[in-house]
Amino acid sequence: MGAIKHFLQFKDFSREEFDYLFARAAWIKKEFKAYRQYWPLVDRTLVMIFEKASTRTRLSFEAGMHQLGGAAIYLNTRDSQLGRGEPVEDAAEVISRMCDIVMIRTYEQTILERFAAHSRVPVINGLTNEYHPCQVLADIFTFIEHRGPIQGKTVAWIGDSNNMCKTWLQAAEVLDFRVRVSSPPGYEVSASEAGLTGTGHFELFTDPMEAARGADLVTTDVWTSMGFEAENEARLQAFKDWQVDQEMMRVAKPDALFMHCLPAHRGEEVTAEVIDGPQSVVWDEAENRLHTQKALLEYLVLGRVKD
Ligand code: CP
Ligand code: NVA
Repeated sequence: MGAIKHFLQFKDFSREEFDYLFARAAWIKKEFKAYRQYWPLVDRTLVMIFEKASTRTRLSFEAGMHQLGGAAIYLNTRDSQLGRGEPVEDAAEVISRMCDIVMIRTYEQTILERFAAHSRVPVINGLTNEYHPCQVLADIFTFIEHRGPIQGKTVAWIGDSNNMCKTWLQAAEVLDFRVRVSSPPGYEVSASEAGLTGTGHFELFTDPMEAARGADLVTTDVWTSMGFEAENEARLQAFKDWQVDQEMMRVAKPDALFMHCLPAHRGEEVTAEVIDGPQSVVWDEAENRLHTQKALLEYLVLGRVKD
């Protein structure tokens, strides 16, 4: 048996693989919108394991698997043996004998890696403390739909150097664009934490306005991610000048897009005027989770296919 392909972090795939996935996602989306049935995954099963809350990730994977003709099973740590101390390795051995692909949302990336190392089937990262590759896959597909290729473009990341930020940094290396990051003191990202091989695709700014200046895309995320709730009060103080508002959008390119993976907190990391305004593409991002993940499921289960 050859090595199993997993999607545990963005850099697990090459640029050429992403080009393939974006093209497949566009075709799958077009067929779905035209009500043409496409069932390549009949009799195939996705198991989804959630250790953290989710709306979009669960819905897009579950609906997507059904739309491809397969089945999706939801497990969480509250009402399965996963929350009662069964070793991750044992769970991986058992679960992967009963399905064709697994998606996991958990805390540390190492949990996901241990599961994948003992899985007979592909494993997808549905969000960890470190990375959220499925979201950035959808976000870049959304950028391409609105503005064409992302290569050579400039993305401004404003706020926490969290799982989304680190994934954008990996994507910049793989797909050759730039990310300008501004985080409050003490919350800055480092290249090694993001798992980068070089430093050539990102730049750090102390002033968020400078990071946004001239950007093709301005993006942000919650100040307190899941698992960090105990830090919420301190973060509300530290991040208050890192809000994306209309003034910040004005220094970006005139046709700059605004993105947010959602859920959002209006009045904290972004103003209502921006997220509900004309430059915002947040609903397209959310919808594209469905189409891009259908392409991802097809690719990981079946390999490359022709239309
Ligand atoms: N953006 C995202 O992953 O949303 P959920 O937490 O609702 O899955
Ligand atoms: N950074 C956020 C993303 C939620 C989809 C979190 O990890 O909670």
